[in-house]
Amino acid sequence: MLKRIILCPLAALLIGGCVKEKEAVMQEPQTLKDAYADYFLIGNIVKGANMDDSLYNILTTHHNIATAENDMKPQYLQRTKGVFTFDDADAIVNKALSQGLKVHGHTLAWHQQTPAWMNQDGVSRDEAVANLTTHARTVVEHFKGKVVSWDVLNEAIADNPPNPEDWKASLRPSPWLQAIGADYVEIVFKAAREADPAAKLYYNDYNMDNTNKATAVYNMVKDINERNPDVRGRPLIDGIGMQGHYSSHTNPVNVENSLQRFISLGVEVSITELDIQSGEGGKQTDAQKITQGLVYAALFNVFKKYAEHIGRVTMWGTDDGSSWRKEACPTMFDDSLSPKPAFFAALDPDKFIAENKVDVETKEAKQSEAVYGTPDEDAWSQAPSIPIDSYLMAWQGASGTAKILWDETSLYVLVNVNNAEMNKANQNAYEQDSVEVFIDENNGKTPFYEKDDGQYRVNFDNEATFNPASMSEGFESQTNVSGRSYTVSLKIPFRTITAKEGDVIGFDAQINGASAQGARQSVAMWNDLSGSSYQDTSGLGVLKLVKR
Ligand code: XIL
Repeated sequence: MLKRIILCPLAALLIGGCVKEKEAVMQEPQTLKDAYADYFLIGNIVKGANMDDSLYNILTTHHNIATAENDMKPQYLQRTKGVFTFDDADAIVNKALSQGLKVHGHTLAWHQQTPAWMNQDGVSRDEAVANLTTHARTVVEHFKGKVVSWDVLNEAIADNPPNPEDWKASLRPSPWLQAIGADYVEIVFKAAREADPAAKLYYNDYNMDNTNKATAVYNMVKDINERNPDVRGRPLIDGIGMQGHYSSHTNPVNVENSLQRFISLGVEVSITELDIQSGEGGKQTDAQKITQGLVYAALFNVFKKYAEHIGRVTMWGTDDGSSWRKEACPTMFDDSLSPKPAFFAALDPDKFIAENKVDVETKEAKQSEAVYGTPDEDAWSQAPSIPIDSYLMAWQGASGTAKILWDETSLYVLVNVNNAEMNKANQNAYEQDSVEVFIDENNGKTPFYEKDDGQYRVNFDNEATFNPASMSEGFESQTNVSGRSYTVSLKIPFRTITAKEGDVIGFDAQINGASAQGARQSVAMWNDLSGSSYQDTSGLGVLKLVKR
C-alpha cells in the first residue's frame, strides 16, 4: 500500500489518473471493475452534463457498464407525440461504447418522467396501447445492437402491497394501468422483445427488500413467464432489477431473501440503482461513513454469494455532489471526488468489515408488562404506563404514553397523545396525526413480517388502517379528542396465539405527528428507532403478559 501511495496518490488513481503506475504496481485490484471481473458487471449512471469531466473518469475507471440517468426516459425521447429526440441519448451511448463500456437502457414504461399525452388526457385504451408499443418499439430498435439490456418496465408494483399473492391487485395505480389495464405489463415486454430479441428485458423496482413488494413482483414475473414461455425462443421477462436505494437501516438479510426468491424463478437478477443514504444536509460524520461502508460491504458480500445469477451491480451516482440524493451522501465518492470508506468497503468487503466492525453492543429491547383484565378504570389503573417519546426524526412533535391489558383473546392498548396538531389532510395515513401499534405474537424478532406480525394505525378521528390489510377482523377502536391531546383505545385480537400468563410478545407503539400543513413532521416510538417496524420486527420492544 505504501509503495502505491508513493508512486501515485491513491485519490488520483481512483478517479482515473496515474494509470501507468497503477498497472506497474498493481497486486490487488484497485478498481471496482477489476475487483468484480469474475463476478458481475459494475455500472454507474451518466448524464449529458458530465460527459467530459472528472466524473466521467470515475465512470470509466471503475465501471464497465453505463445507464443514462435521465436521457432515455420517455419524456426525453418523445416529449411530443411522434417526434423522437435521440441526440442527447445517442451522444451518451456512443461515447460510452467508444470508451469500452456496455450500455443498459432505462426505461421504456414508468409512471414518472412520461409525457401526459401517452396515457393521460383522456386517451382511450387503444390509443394508449398504440402509444406504449410505438414508443417501446421505436426506442429499442433505435438502440439495437448498442444497448445490451432494458428496464422495460419500472416501478409497476405498489409499496408494501397488502395482498401480494394477487399481483394484479398489487399494481400501482399508474396512468398506464388506468389507461390500459393490467395487461400493459405484457404488452410492453412483447413490444421490446420483438424490437430487439437479443436484448435482455428487465422488470425494475425499488424497496424490493420489502417482503410484500418482492412477493408481488415474484408472482407477476412467474405468472407472465409461465404464460409466455417462448417469445422468440425464451420466456418473456429475462431479469429482475432490484434498484437498491437503501439506507444505513437496510437489513442485508431482507435483500438476500428477495434475491434468493427472484433467482428461484430462473431469471437473472441485477442491482440497478444502488445507493445508501447516511447523512443529512450533505454532511456525514465519520461514524456515519463507517456505518454506510459496513452496509455496502455486507451487501457486496451478498451479491458475491449469488454472483452466478447476478448480471450487474450498478450504482446510482458516481459521487455525492452529483447524486439525486446528495443531501444524504449516498455514494462511494464525496463531493470533492475522494473515495469514501464506502468505496473501500465495496472494493474489499471482508477486509473492510474486519478492519471496521466494532462490536456494537446489541441494544437490549425495552421491556414492560401487560396486565390481565378487560378495559375498565380499575384494570387500567393496574397497568404500567410506557413512554412513547423517543424520536425517529429531528423534529420533536407529538408524544405520549401507553398502557396495555390482555385477556386470552385480545390485547387492549390505551394511548394518550399530547401536543398534536390534529391534522389528517395527508392522503398517506401514516402522515396524519395517528397512533400505531406493532405486534409480534411469537416475539420471533424476524427482519420481515410473519403471519403473527401486524401493524395497526388509528388516527385521531378514529380511522383505522392495517398492515397487512386483512387484519381488520375483530379489531375495535375509539378516540377522544380534547384540545391538543387525544386518546386512542384499541382492541387487537390475537391471531395466532391463545394468550396465557407469562407469554412474551414483541410490541411497540408509535405516534405520528403531522404539521399544520399536513405533512409528517415527527415520529415518536417506545422502543424501535430503526424506522423499519412496518416490515421488520427485530427492533420491537417486549411485553410480558402478567396477572396481578
Ligand atoms: C431519478 C434521477 O436520478 C433524477 O435526476 C430525476 O430527477 C428523477 O429520477 N428510480 C429510478 C430512477 O428508476 O430513474 C430515478 O432517477 C431514481 C429512482
